[in-house]
Amino acid sequence: MGIALATACGNDAPRLPEIAAPPIERVVEDPSDAPLAGLSAEELARFDEGDARFELPFREAQGLGPLYVHRACTSCHEDDARGPGAVRRIVRRGEDAPALPWGDVVRPRTTAGATIAVIAPVHPSIGEVVRLAPAVFARGLIEAIPDAAIEANERAQRGVISGRVARLADGRIGRFGHKARTATLDEFVADALLGDMGLTSPMRPEELPGPEGIRDDAKPGVDVSDEEIALLADYVRLLAMPRREARDARVFEAVGCATCHVPSTRTRDDHEVPALRAVDAAIYSDLLLHDMGDALADGIAEGAASGREWRTAPLVGVRHLRGLMHDGRARTVREAIDAHASEGSEANAVVERFRALGEDEQLALIAFVEAL
Ligand code: HEC
Ligand code: HEC
Repeated sequence: MGIALATACGNDAPRLPEIAAPPIERVVEDPSDAPLAGLSAEELARFDEGDARFELPFREAQGLGPLYVHRACTSCHEDDARGPGAVRRIVRRGEDAPALPWGDVVRPRTTAGATIAVIAPVHPSIGEVVRLAPAVFARGLIEAIPDAAIEANERAQRGVISGRVARLADGRIGRFGHKARTATLDEFVADALLGDMGLTSPMRPEELPGPEGIRDDAKPGVDVSDEEIALLADYVRLLAMPRREARDARVFEAVGCATCHVPSTRTRDDHEVPALRAVDAAIYSDLLLHDMGDALADGIAEGAASGREWRTAPLVGVRHLRGLMHDGRARTVREAIDAHASEGSEANAVVERFRALGEDEQLALIAFVEAL
């Protein structure tokens, strides 16, 4: 959300005479929390119920903890986008690094009787990496894309750029998470509740292990129901894509960004939600895993992905994201493009082509991406 001054600075805006009157303020309507168009009354009701839960800070009595990262989905997905909260992961860099018996996610907060948090052991072969959240809008569209379309993207890439389908151990295709480790939104929500908040569910009934061996929290047994998970997943599923203004995609396509950031893919025509059926989903991702080189590699293998691979980040609502790339290392689109290049990255040649462009074309490409 923001307020822009309507000055005559657009490329083909007519030149206005200089006047002394105060500038006209134009409120750029860009609501977060907006549902997809064309939902039924029942779907809208589920959306609203899920929305309330998405913003709710969970309390101890509801089963928060014993160890957790943050209390609410919005702590890390504010306005359905990215941050301010983040997840820190512990990385073993060498055989002599101590084992991580409580997993590699830093869980810095304790409640319900726990007093010892999970933090990175101090050791020369132990490192820490940060993961900011992807946005959650337009994720229903990502879920509704047929497997065959993702497989076709893989077949179409036969050069230096050769993404891989994130084939999970059970044969399904991973789509969610920076490394596409999860196939469906419901499973991702169950993982988020357990991993980030210590909330167990029928899908994930066991608390994660911690240093004190505490097996339960202030709410005995399973903390949230399948229906709670379904409501949260439906909220995410039914979120609309932020509004976009038409811009010129030519440079984006000419330099090769669109090879990985595939502009649009048609969703299944048999989806349970009519509003998600047979839509051209402009998510700007092939949903494949790519080797992004030494500089982005975090050494964490997850699902089908190696320590060097990442899912092509969907370019949706880029202007709403605080910090770009999985850890927010880039502050601007230009920095994000630079971050694609390092030893071994599939994107190196594309970044070279971007750098060889004239200043005007570079700015046109950046403006295009910022408006997505
Ligand atoms: C502590 C911060 C944090 C909290 C709290 C949190 N998330 Fe996330 N979320 C993340 C991060 C980080 C990722 C990326 C995970 C990864 O791949 O490592 C993510 C990823 C996701 C994704 C996948 C998006 C995509 O494009 O792949 C969904 C969906 C999601 N979260 C939903 C939720 C919901 C629902 C809640 C509340 C129940 C929640 N998250 C709570 C940090 C958080
Ligand atoms: C080889 C495939 C590939 C090519 C080519 C590519 N990208 Fe990416 N892009 C990715 C991957 C994978 C990520 C996620 C990396 C990460 O999070 O660390 C990403 C992330 C991004 C992000 C950050 C999005 C976010 O959510 O933080 C932007 C912006 C972006 N790319 C723009 C571009 C532009 C512009 C081009 C062309 C100059 C381009 N990309 C070319 C694969 C590619």
